[in-house]
Amino acid sequence: MTFDPLERPKHQSIETVVPTPTIESTKEANRRGFLKTTAASTAIATAASLFNRSVHAAGSDIIKVGLVGCGGRGMGAAKDNMSADAGCRLTAIAEVFYNRMEDGKDQLKKSLGSQYEVPEEQCFSGWEALDKILQTDIDVVLLATPPWFRPAQMEAAIKAGKHVFCEKPVAVDPPGVRRVMAASALAESKGLCVVSGLCWRYDHGVKATIEKIQSGAIGDIISIQENYLTGTLWIRTPKPDWTPMHNQVLNWLYYKWLSGDHYVEQFIHSLDKAMWLHNDVPPVFCYGTGGRQVRTEPEYGDIYDHFSIVYEWADGTRCFASTRQMDGCYNQTEDFIYGTKGTARVLANEVKGETNWKFEGKKKSMYELEHIALMKAIRDGKPINNGDYMCKSTLMAIMGREAAYSGQIIKWDDALASELKLGPDKPDWGLAPDVEVRMPGKYKFIEA
Ligand SMILES: NC(=O)c1ccc[n+]([C@@H]2O[C@H](COP(=O)([O-])OP(=O)(O)OC[C@H]3O[C@@H](n4cnc5c(N)ncnc54)[C@H](O)[C@@H]3O)[C@@H](O)[C@H]2O)c1
Repeated sequence: MTFDPLERPKHQSIETVVPTPTIESTKEANRRGFLKTTAASTAIATAASLFNRSVHAAGSDIIKVGLVGCGGRGMGAAKDNMSADAGCRLTAIAEVFYNRMEDGKDQLKKSLGSQYEVPEEQCFSGWEALDKILQTDIDVVLLATPPWFRPAQMEAAIKAGKHVFCEKPVAVDPPGVRRVMAASALAESKGLCVVSGLCWRYDHGVKATIEKIQSGAIGDIISIQENYLTGTLWIRTPKPDWTPMHNQVLNWLYYKWLSGDHYVEQFIHSLDKAMWLHNDVPPVFCYGTGGRQVRTEPEYGDIYDHFSIVYEWADGTRCFASTRQMDGCYNQTEDFIYGTKGTARVLANEVKGETNWKFEGKKKSMYELEHIALMKAIRDGKPINNGDYMCKSTLMAIMGREAAYSGQIIKWDDALASELKLGPDKPDWGLAPDVEVRMPGKYKFIEA
């Protein structure tokens, strides 16, 4: 794929504004608690039947899907969605960069075959691309842009009445998490699906292992060790005509306002399993350390390259969470669970101790499984909503990052209420946010 964001037809405007619909007030979001929507079950049942009717309104079993973000994961999500359900058609595409949209179209035509039905007039680029795709008659939208964009995009998609598949993490700061909480509650009241890209929740082996642990196979959990010790990821070589903002949006991994730092962007997969093992009850506080030791050049923006955080729950259980993105080091990604009667390794799908067990079932791509679940829910008129855990795990990651950045103890309640906001109000191609590496002991976390 070639990257040249500035190359576009003359009629395509480069100036654009990301839609920033009103955020529900903090008080309102807190009052609701985590997605404890007040919508009565009868209202949901009514919405569900409406939702069932709307899918089949055209008198066919075709479900129209739109893709937002033609990057690596967007291409994958579109393919997974089409493989999940033969009645799906990709009918619209939104991508901020014109060139990437054109490359994406070529790739998707090849990979999706007859399920690719995108007319030219339903291909949108620029900052308004999201607004435009939501005005089409798509039933489902796949959100696969950098995390900073997710809260506004998710809110707009639900308001527009679309079922949503949204990649992880769902935000980079607490106001963003609260906005997604409110959007997820709205989806629930409207009978719309929200399926998260926290894909391990859909993996057969991981699911079976977590269920085994939760059914008491290792006794009571004492502690969890989450390791995501891995190498470095891609970087896109800047071109001379890129503005600083072009560079930040294309190399979003390295800018905390866009990715949330790798602790939030990548390590959320591991933290989500610790949250899941605690039945989605969040930790009370965390503290820890982190820094930027190897990836110190300016092209690596302002993120750290290693973190080590301790989370503690009200019942005294702890999670020791370590992640590192460095090349040439020992790599290990695993979830070690220590219980009163044994131990487990979640990714290895095994339990040892008083009970010895290993998942031997058939495996299928977890990426496809999440789309199978989404499409089945839509067709059955039984909406699924992953909003609760995807917001909690995102906030758990954000509080850990802030603990390392500040050197302070961060409490869950303070993180939930925090007004810490990353990124600009409205992105502009010429003006990129400042690049600031956080210094523990000097930088202070904004509580509320
Ligand atoms: N679940 C997983 O295992 C998994 C794996 C990889 C990535 N992801 C997630 O998927 C998301 C995308 O990651 P990626 O690797 O595909 O990144 P990418 O950079 O390859 O793709 C993102 C695309 O979004 C476009 N974009 C940026 N801002 C936009 C906007 N406002 N409107 C429309 N398009 C916009 C970019 O130009 C780019 O083409 C991230 O949140 C990432 O964390 C999840």
